[in-house]
Amino acid sequence: MPDRPIDELLSRRDLIKGAATAGAFMAWPDHAEERRGEDPAQSVAATMMGVPFERHESVRVAIVGTGLRGSSVLGEFLSVDGVRVTALCDIVPAKAQRAADRVVQAGQPMPALYTAGERDFEHLVTRDDIDFVYTATPWPWHTPVCLAALKAGKHAGTEVPAATSLDECWALVDASERTRRHCLIMENCCYDFNEMMVNTMVKKGMFGEVQYGEAAYIHDLRSILFEDRDEGLWRRFPHTNRQGNFYPTHGLGPVSWYLDIHGGDRFDYLVSMSTGERGLSLWRDAHVPKDSPKWRETYVEGDINSSLVKTVRGKTILLQHAVTTPTPYDRLNSIRGTKGVFKDYPARIYLDGQKDGEAFKPIDEYQAEHAHPLWKEFGERARKTGGEGGMDFIMIARLMRCMQEGLPPDIDVYDAAAWSAPWPLSEVSVKHGSVPVKFPDFTRGGWQTVRSRS
Ligand SMILES: NC(=O)c1ccc[n+]([C@@H]2O[C@H](COP(=O)([O-])OP(=O)(O)OC[C@H]3O[C@@H](n4cnc5c(N)ncnc54)[C@H](O)[C@@H]3O)[C@@H](O)[C@H]2O)c1
Repeated sequence: MPDRPIDELLSRRDLIKGAATAGAFMAWPDHAEERRGEDPAQSVAATMMGVPFERHESVRVAIVGTGLRGSSVLGEFLSVDGVRVTALCDIVPAKAQRAADRVVQAGQPMPALYTAGERDFEHLVTRDDIDFVYTATPWPWHTPVCLAALKAGKHAGTEVPAATSLDECWALVDASERTRRHCLIMENCCYDFNEMMVNTMVKKGMFGEVQYGEAAYIHDLRSILFEDRDEGLWRRFPHTNRQGNFYPTHGLGPVSWYLDIHGGDRFDYLVSMSTGERGLSLWRDAHVPKDSPKWRETYVEGDINSSLVKTVRGKTILLQHAVTTPTPYDRLNSIRGTKGVFKDYPARIYLDGQKDGEAFKPIDEYQAEHAHPLWKEFGERARKTGGEGGMDFIMIARLMRCMQEGLPPDIDVYDAAAWSAPWPLSEVSVKHGSVPVKFPDFTRGGWQTVRSRS
């Protein structure tokens, strides 16, 4: 099994070179100074697995990146009891101001604003009225914002993926351990209704031993990727110079919970292959004026990436990414065990020996008995006020409770690293004829401690 010299293949220099060629995107940062030099196998400090937050009577939150996602999640922070939003940061002052107005409308004091350029978050994190820094910036800023927050003694939470290279994954792990501050990936899909209920059923043993899972991000983003605002300013860029499974965590997070990844198992290696590229090129042909700078771009990311992950305990996971072809939204979200099957989109269950024979039953039939306690407690409020069908509210309410009551977070820096790693790993596998590529053990052996996220 080759443990390839991935760092050489995933150099930031490639990103920067690509940016200069394309010319039409929001600047992408060069984090060369953040690259780790030491041996990843060496522990720099004790683990952060299972480490409780200190208790916070009230949690003081700062948000970096108040675009579509940051301003949506701001709504969740404002609707959870015992949370104050004390500082906001965006490179576009009007976006930060709009978010600040909502904080004031919610009855809280005017938050401090940081809008003086793309590194102003470094000033924000030094404030002494912040407990938790949440970043909803474009992907390449996630790790730099988290590192700055951790270094300044704040807990950090990042939008997905947490990192875009293995260097960044390790930098987050090292920094969280060294600073004794949590660095979480804010994977809202772990908190969706079906995912939490199925995880509850898995932990009750209803599917037997889960052998296989399917996870994906299948979403037609073609029009969004070509917009001249919001994600269109940055999210098309990696399609011009990188390959692989760009956005693995929405599917992989919940499947990791079903399979007890980092609670008795871990990802061992993956193999990956991509189709050729047609989706963005055809969309541009049909929709983009011929004098647009977008015609200088070449798209290299295949339309559909399929990766297979093997775990140390012998389970397998199909992990797909498809954002440039027409399709209804789908995260696959399925498991197959020794006693039954769950498949999503639409959600349905088959259990061995069920009295109605070999046919799927709708998931609703199991709801009354197996809905997750958090959904029983917050479901009505979450569906009414929360984004993404309520899972955002459940995620934020749960995280804030962990911080208020001094509990360990559900998701830690090791999850952030391992769930984000499939992008760089699949990139290597795709480039080299689908060779198997090893996952690093970000937990440094801690994965063997049995614990379940339920
Ligand atoms: N979890 C989910 O369901 C979900 C949904 C949508 C987006 N996202 C993620 O959220 C993140 C943001 O996506 P979005 O849709 O809000 O994009 P967006 O472009 O609307 O927002 C990004 C914001 O970050 C600001 N920004 C850029 N660089 C910055 C910097 N250096 N410092 C401060 N602000 C900076 C931009 O001005 C913009 O307002 C992405 O990582 C995306 O993948 C997650």
